[in-house]
Order: sequence, then structure tokens, then C-alpha cells
Amino acid sequence: MVRDKLQEANEFIKNNKHKLNKEYRLNYHLMGEYGWINDPNGFIYYKGKYHLFYQHYPYEAVWGPMHWGHAVSEDLVKWSYEPIALAPDTNFDKDGCFSGTSIEKDGKLYLVYTGHVYTGVDKSKDYKQTQGIAYSENGIFFEKYHGNPVINSNQIPEAANKKDCRDPKVFKIDDIYYMVLGSNDEKGNGQVLLYKSKNLINWDFVNILAKSDGNIGTTWECPDLFKINGKDILMVSPQYMKPQGNNYHNIHSTVYITGNLDLKKGIFNINGYNPVDYGFDFYAPQTALDSKGRRIVVAWMEMWESKFPTQERGDNWCGAMTLPREVVLKDNKLFFKPVSEIENYRKNEVSLENISVNGENLLPITGDSYELQIIFDAKHSKEFGIKLRTSETEETVLTYSVEDKLFIFNRDKSGIGPKGERKTEVELIDNKLNLQIFVDKSSVEVFINEGEKVMTGRIYPSRESINLKVFSKGDCNILSLIKWDIK
Ligand code: FRU
Repeated sequence: MVRDKLQEANEFIKNNKHKLNKEYRLNYHLMGEYGWINDPNGFIYYKGKYHLFYQHYPYEAVWGPMHWGHAVSEDLVKWSYEPIALAPDTNFDKDGCFSGTSIEKDGKLYLVYTGHVYTGVDKSKDYKQTQGIAYSENGIFFEKYHGNPVINSNQIPEAANKKDCRDPKVFKIDDIYYMVLGSNDEKGNGQVLLYKSKNLINWDFVNILAKSDGNIGTTWECPDLFKINGKDILMVSPQYMKPQGNNYHNIHSTVYITGNLDLKKGIFNINGYNPVDYGFDFYAPQTALDSKGRRIVVAWMEMWESKFPTQERGDNWCGAMTLPREVVLKDNKLFFKPVSEIENYRKNEVSLENISVNGENLLPITGDSYELQIIFDAKHSKEFGIKLRTSETEETVLTYSVEDKLFIFNRDKSGIGPKGERKTEVELIDNKLNLQIFVDKSSVEVFINEGEKVMTGRIYPSRESINLKVFSKGDCNILSLIKWDIK
């Protein structure tokens, strides 16, 4: 039976791949081979390669019974597809192999994930979530543990919802495996449960590791816990978090929480929290440590309950991952930088210097798939910025308001996708603004002031919208602008 569902899914993709509409397919971001994808799963550097699994419904570009898709890469930029790793084909996971993690043990690759099972007719309420494992000798073909689940509903503590417990992330410290599990307290507050195990099979509940104070969303999905330069970071994806100032305006958010981890007591003392990304489309991030000692984060570059043009148009695919970003700690804050491997894909460099702007200038460059590095000197400008993917009717606008100290990403005229604006506070440094922008067919990722903040959004302009413009109210100078096609 196991082979059958997997085989069916793999064959379906092979036989239907030619039906993809590629117009909005990205050139240097990971997408599913066909159908739907959401969260990154099981992100790991294993036996010399990066493995990234993902929530996947291969048959249609809509969310459905979750499989685990699988891609591998040597450099985090160029990915190749492996056969689907998990299909919902046992009693424990028959309605979905939900999100989870992977870990190497005795040379084998273990997947630890949530089995989703419907228990009644109302799918929004009648379900059960338990945790199970699968393993592989080669990291490609997985066998599910016959004793699944390894964490059943009776191992969920009283102070936690027995149904919403999902998305295990596992790590090892001093020969003990620990698991953080997404949860809520049934009173509308997100929380994370901590478990431990000696063998990945027998798990003991330790404690409720951390919990919302009432302001950080209802269920904490996809938790991740790691140390960076000695600092403990808890990353979670809180559902239905309410806006706070300019932050958290999407239906669901992502935050990284700084604090102190007391593993013995199973407590993460919260100091503070910040968004991981300040744009529109960034959810369920997951990190991995690689052989170079880098902590890399990748997220689903979409947002739930949003409009998905490739789904609506019948393009037969939906969902993409962000560029993998290196997580760097600076002044007690996390900075996010595109992995340096992307530099190997730069082509056709165009470099411009000292462009004075007052009004609007069309730049002598075009493209739909590129990297741009710009340094603006604000001079006497009140407001300046750049317009991407422009034509007579379309534009995606990035504005810096000097008076309000706000950076603004507006996609009201970006084409057929969802619209709107996201804002975030940014300080000029010596009166300068430094932007590193990645545009890829239907995506924009803006790294502001060397990764201090990142804004990510999907856009769906028409093919002709390939121009770029810069603008300013008052005198402004572009000290340098470099553009590379990324192919
Ligand atoms: C997050 C999420 C997870 C769940 C998965 C199901 O986007 O809701 O909590 O495991 O998606 O596909």
C-alpha cells in the first residue's frame, strides 16, 4: 500500500507536468513540480546536500491531502526534484502528512511529522493530530515506523488543545532529542510544547515551553528553536495575530522571539519579539544549520486565504519558497541576508553611478528576473524610491518616506495578484538607504540596509511590464545601482 500511493503521485506528476502554464514560474526559487505546495519541511544539510521537503498536493493547485514533496540542492539555489517522500497512506496519517522536521541519526535520515486524520464530517473541527516518524538509508526512499504515532493525543498535557498539536521540530543536545510542537491553550493563545526522547520513538512531555501573552496569535504553527552566537531564538508562525502598529498586517504572521532557554525546566523566558519578514507573503519559516556553520531560513512565499492567481488561472501549480536567507545576529536583532551562492548566478552586469533624481526617471535597464543593488543618498528629498516591473499601466512601488522614516512596498498596480501596502520603520544611515532587491517573474524580495529588515511579496504583472523607474520629491542622488540578471 505504501508504495502504491507514492507511485501514483509520482506517476501523476510525470504524466501531467507538460500541462503547467509557465508564465509566472520563477527562475531561481523553488516551486513544486506540479500542483500545490505550502510549508517547507524537513530542511536539512545531509550527506553533502541540502534537502528541502515541502507540504504538497500533487494532483491539483489547491491544498488537499498533504504529501511531502522533496528537492535537493548543492548550493541552495539550483534544486532538483526527488520522488515524493511521504504520501498519506497509513491509519496514522491518512488525511495528510502535515509539517515536520528531519534529523540525522546513525547515518539515517529521520522525518518527524504530524499525521492528520478526520474524525467526523466537519473537517474544520473533527480531526486528530498525532506525531510520527519515517526513516531512510539514503535520504530518498522513506519507510514509516510501524508503531506510529510516537506522540499520541494522550501525551498532550491538560493545558493544551489535544487537536491542534502539530509541526514538530526536532534537535539534539547532549545525546537527547528535543521536540518543539505547535499548540494553543484552547483559550485563544498560541504556545509551544516541549518533549524529549533518547531514541526518537519514546517521548516524554517536559513542559509548555513558551506561550503568548495574549498578543501573539491563537495557535503557534511551525515552531523552530535554535541558538545563534549564544542567543536563544524561538521562531513561530502565530495564526490570527492582531496588527501592532505597522507590523503583523497579514492574516497570519511570523515572529522570532528572543529570550533565554532553560532546557532542564523546559522554559523559554521571553524577552521580546519581532516579525521575521515585513512584507505580504512569508509564512511557516524553517531553519537548518549547514556544514559551513550557517543558520539558513526558508519560508513559504505565500499567505493563507490570499488570492492565488496561478490557482485561479488554471496554471496547474501554486506556491513557492523564498530565497534561502542566512540568519545573522547583530545588536541582539536578527538580520537576514540572501545566501551568497546566489552571486554565482549573476549575469549581464549593468552598473550605473551618480544619478540625480528629482521627479521620475526611466532607467536604461529592463527585466523580470534579476538582482538589484542600490544606494540612495536622500539629500534633500522628502520621499524617493524605485518602481519595478513597470509598463504604461503597471508598477510595483518601493518608497522611502524621509519625514515618516517609513519604507513602503505597494502592489496596488502590480498586475492581477492581490493588492495592498506594507510599511515598516527604517532609519537612514548617514542619510543613505541601501537596498538589495530580488525580482523573479512573480516575486519581489527587498533586503533593506544589509538585511536589517526584509519585505517579501508576490506580484503578477503582465509580460510587458519589464521597465524600472526611480523617483524623488526633491533632490536625491543614486550613488550606485548595479543590476544582474539572475538565470
Ligand atoms: C502551516 C500549516 C501547518 C500544517 C500545514 C498543513 O501553514 O497550517 O500548521 O502542518 O500547514 O499543510
